Amino acid sequence: MGANSAEIYDVVGVGFGPSNLAFAIALEESGGDASAGPLTSAFFERQPSFGWHRNMLLPSATMQVSFLKDLATLRNPVSRFGFVSFLHASGRLEQFINTQTFFPTREEFHQYLDWAQALFSGKVSYGSEVAGIQLPPESASATAQYLQVDVRDTVRGDIRTVAARNVVISTGLVPQVPDGVASDERVWHSSEFLERFQQVSPETLKKVAVVGAGQSGAEIARFLYDSLPQADIYAIIPSYGYSIADDTPFANRVFDSAAVDDYYFGTERSREAFWRYHKNTNYSVADDEVIRDLYQRVYMDELRGTNRLHILNMARVTNVKRMGNESRVFMESLLDGGSQDLDVNALVFATGYDSMDPSGVLGELDGYCLRDGAGRYQVGRDYRLVTTPDVSCGIYLQGGTEHTHGLTSSLLSNIAVRGGEIADSILRRRSADGPATSAPTTSA
Ligand code: FDA
Ligand code: NAP
Repeated sequence: MGANSAEIYDVVGVGFGPSNLAFAIALEESGGDASAGPLTSAFFERQPSFGWHRNMLLPSATMQVSFLKDLATLRNPVSRFGFVSFLHASGRLEQFINTQTFFPTREEFHQYLDWAQALFSGKVSYGSEVAGIQLPPESASATAQYLQVDVRDTVRGDIRTVAARNVVISTGLVPQVPDGVASDERVWHSSEFLERFQQVSPETLKKVAVVGAGQSGAEIARFLYDSLPQADIYAIIPSYGYSIADDTPFANRVFDSAAVDDYYFGTERSREAFWRYHKNTNYSVADDEVIRDLYQRVYMDELRGTNRLHILNMARVTNVKRMGNESRVFMESLLDGGSQDLDVNALVFATGYDSMDPSGVLGELDGYCLRDGAGRYQVGRDYRLVTTPDVSCGIYLQGGTEHTHGLTSSLLSNIAVRGGEIADSILRRRSADGPATSAPTTSA
């Protein structure tokens, strides 16, 4: 069952990845308040079914966060939506304990997320893309009590409109490729990797290049090397070698929920220090395990005289051109400024992501959201966008708040706590305002 378009919701969630799933759980567990009961909610997700970075579900990829930082545990350690409950329901709790790890495979965590989302089937509509959010027409001369959310059916193309007292936007990271590069059937971003790779006959892939020294680039280079035993794999990385993601205990405290306050209420100088000293916990770095795996492959190749994994270091890709069946990759050397090129059958840009950008779904409503001197959104500690007085509804962000809330903004570490903070904020505001008296008619 999907969301009902003839209803007004206390909350509409845009996107149903881990962030809004954790928020849905927090709403469910908050139980509402005594006077007005539970908050009503509906979530819209454009994918046809649940999926968490499916195109990067590589066989040996593991989580980069402890399973205890699941959808609920840090907010509610006895939640029935935690990873341990999932293991118990799946009959694998003891077997998992025997693995002695905090870091399950992404495959297993995906199963966990899928299990949890299935418990919300009555509230989520898949194949439903939010095309825009706006003020209702009658609000031109008054403070708007509701927002209109336009939802496009991704199969039929028709649009229906639902009304929301609050929206929580969690549309995820935006894939990033170097300027001027266009993807085609043989030039892919890592976010589309597995789907594209599976569409190509492996025997046509004799030379493949992967750009980027982050976790995605390292994992894809290893996967290609193992999956294409006849192929030459070129890893084009801007650094001298892959650098390790710092996950040591003191540094890892930047992902604690308390660090959000330290960041939010800090000074420009302290916020800058977070990034300067701790960017290497997450960006442009790879796990120790995958780095050592790659090195071992290079070493064994040398031993056997079969060099197949070529690390082209201190190199940045500047352009790509289609040359018949091949792609020509142009690179600039960071060692001497010289340029070189390489012809490949396929090219993967594991060049990272931009932060979540809500301006697309906000449309004209974006004009009511206040910005700081640097043009960034002003965001409350409760993740609510600061707006002009014309908008009394809550517009909350999960993602895109690196400048206000710090490093966890795009990560899983804090989603249980953040989801609870947003649910609390919405409940608090409802208690302060009292329940809305009438629901507007919504169009189909
Ligand atoms: P996410 O991107 O997961 O979900 C957003 C959803 O919104 C998507 O399902 C999308 O389809 C939907 N959507 C977008 N626009 C829409 C619209 N207009 N209408 C309706 N739906 C829309 N972090 C971490 O802490 N530990 C880890 O192990 C990893 N691992 C990891 C692996 C890979 C391959 C990547 C690329 C990233 C990670 N991350 C991570 C970081 C990652 O951002 C994080 O795991 C979550 O995906 C964040 O969840 P969100 O729900 O915020 O975004
Ligand atoms: P990333 O960390 O941002 O890395 C992008 C890499 O591409 C950087 O090395 C960057 O170098 C390089 N790059 C960019 N433009 C380039 C160019 N023109 N030429 C050469 N190199 C270029 O992105 P990511 O690896 O996709 O990781 C993104 C997020 O996903 C991280 O949070 C990561 O932990 C997560 N992730 C997790 C898993 C997992 O859980 N197993 C798997 C994959 C990803 P510069 O920094 O110099 O620009």
